[in-house]
Amino acid sequence: MAVVLGIESSCDETAAALVDGERRIIAQRIASQDDAHRPYGGVVPEIAARAHSERIAPLVAAVLDDAGMTLADVDAIAATAGPGLIGGVMVGLVTAKALAMASDKPLIAVNHLEGHALSPRLADAAVQFPYLLLLVSGGHCQVLRVEGVGQYRRLATTIDDALGEAFDKTAKILGLGFPGGPAVERLAREGNPKAVPLPRPLLGSAEPHFSFAGLKSAVLRAKQAGVHADADIAAAFQKAALDCVMDRTRRALAGSVGVTALVVAGGVAANQTIRSGLEGLAAEFGLPFVAPPLALCTDNAAMIAWAGQERLALGNFAPDPLDIAARPRWPLDPEAAPVRGAGVKA
Ligand code: KG4
Ligand code: ZN
Repeated sequence: MAVVLGIESSCDETAAALVDGERRIIAQRIASQDDAHRPYGGVVPEIAARAHSERIAPLVAAVLDDAGMTLADVDAIAATAGPGLIGGVMVGLVTAKALAMASDKPLIAVNHLEGHALSPRLADAAVQFPYLLLLVSGGHCQVLRVEGVGQYRRLATTIDDALGEAFDKTAKILGLGFPGGPAVERLAREGNPKAVPLPRPLLGSAEPHFSFAGLKSAVLRAKQAGVHADADIAAAFQKAALDCVMDRTRRALAGSVGVTALVVAGGVAANQTIRSGLEGLAAEFGLPFVAPPLALCTDNAAMIAWAGQERLALGNFAPDPLDIAARPRWPLDPEAAPVRGAGVKA
């Protein structure tokens, strides 16, 4: 059975994993760089690229060692080729190219977003195409109709900030440090979501898209007013974000015919409040709700290896050329019409 080595380095996680065709994660390691970026309150691209280049080779060796394998036991090498911080993407992709060349194994250049999009199928063999996917991470907030491997139709995206970005900025405003999403979620548990009135941008709007910039600004004003407990601001922010996500996803579901499930993926899918809200929404439409286990929601290499497996399993599989370029931007649905204000999001 085919074994794919996956490599991920598009943001601040250096990761390698071995995944087989029966969804077994044979070995995986993730080296977080949180400590390196914490003093700056966010990911510093140059620091990330250097850290990836220091860690990647020993990490790949360690994963092979954990599995008791060598490159000779691997059938293909999959690496994130974008979108992401270009210095880091180049480190992972160049490493994969070198390994592919040295071992004469096929290279599979994976779109990081495709890794997230297909991760539910790694976790659960029952997830069948087509499904409606809410992809919520630090850089992206999209609703996609996943028709098949390589077939993605974007139904909605953010016109300004991504959802994870809104969590991270809220954390920064509240002085919760980095990374922000889990810290906001923890603090929100102690707060009253009704104590601070916050806007819900685009709620009920006829257009399908998301917007979080106005919510983030309102969080800043609430903090500056100096009259609210931080926990109340965190809880109110999380509730407002949830209401927006539910409203926009409900709109997409109402217009979707024939989908088999509502699936959430990406780092923000680790948020329990968002997960349970979406679970209720799926039930409203009589659909199963699928969310990968937490460790598969945030950036990891198992999802990249799995995307490689999905590509290998296609009848028309062809390896990517060794001169394929790393891409800072790489939309999953190149046909999607641009939206107002969204020039900076893939
Ligand atoms: O998918 P991911 O690991 O990296 C990207 O591709 O962006 O997502 C990271 C994002 C960050 O913005 C982080 O704050 C957010 O996911 N995140 C969360 C939680 N865990 C991670 N947001 C809210 N609640 C969480 N528990
Ligand atoms: Zn990601």
